[in-house]
Amino acid sequence: MTRIIVITSGKGGVGKTTITANLGIALAKMGNQVALVDADFELRNLDLLLGLEKRIIYTLFDVLAGECRLEQALVKDKRQPGLALLPAAKKRTKELVTPEQIKPLLNDLAQKYEYILIDSPAGIDAGFQTAIASATEALVIATPEISSVRDANRVITLLQAQKIKPIQLIVNRVRPGMVRDLNMMSPEDVQELLGVSLIGSICEDERVIVSTNHGQPLVLGKNKSPAAIAIDKIAQNLGGKKNNKSLDFDLSNDRILNKDSTIDPTTEFISLYPYF
Ligand SMILES: Nc1ncnc2c1ncn2[C@@H]1O[C@H](COP(=O)(O)OP(=O)(O)O)[C@@H](O)[C@H]1O
Ligand SMILES: [Mg+2]
Repeated sequence: MTRIIVITSGKGGVGKTTITANLGIALAKMGNQVALVDADFELRNLDLLLGLEKRIIYTLFDVLAGECRLEQALVKDKRQPGLALLPAAKKRTKELVTPEQIKPLLNDLAQKYEYILIDSPAGIDAGFQTAIASATEALVIATPEISSVRDANRVITLLQAQKIKPIQLIVNRVRPGMVRDLNMMSPEDVQELLGVSLIGSICEDERVIVSTNHGQPLVLGKNKSPAAIAIDKIAQNLGGKKNNKSLDFDLSNDRILNKDSTIDPTTEFISLYPYF
């Protein structure tokens, strides 16, 4: 059965679009048929991050308006067989798509694709409700900051109310050196606060920004950066393959959080944030 996974967070700028694009490619590299749906109709950045913006002819809005067939709107990624993008409108729009409109469209997509990843907008209003409407599971993205964790907590409550299950956590932009110095929550701290399972964590990695600016997705590069390795692992974990979920990559410009480290920041952080 097709897995329809919404990538969401509450807070903006935490890496939803980056993760949707790269996770989609990583899953397709593993031989899966993957459709990426840009449900962030206002910001619509997914096409840019994938470097597919020039190839868009029709969009999700054209499909809904009956101006083209779903198949015509899908942009197939020539670099990565098995990957297709269903783009949002060509121009930024505040136009709303309702859950009732998106559901049949995603049902059609599910006939052909094994994974559907939905990039959701920030916030928890109508756009969020549409993005989660057809989801069978969710990946919640949080950064190790208390505001992001709070927003993620809110979103998890809403996802649970919709009976979306499983809900798994990705902690992004982790800086191991700061974690070790007890200046940043560890992925495990965040997980403990949110009470959902941690599928993986991604470190702060400047190559994410470089790849975004070039429209050249991180996980397609030859020399894998730490973030690309982490996303590949998350794809494997999502597919059921067991992998180490901790931060275990080497960072030349940062200190490594060693799994065998004697420092256990978890207790410290929980006591720092007793009000959460
Ligand atoms: N692991 C990371 N390391 C460094 N920069 C990152 C990382 N993840 C995301 N970013 C940057 O953060 C910004 C917001 O990411 P984006 O995916 O657009 O977030 P969202 O979709 O949640 O708003 C972008 O500039 C992106 O390049
Ligand atoms: Mg985004």
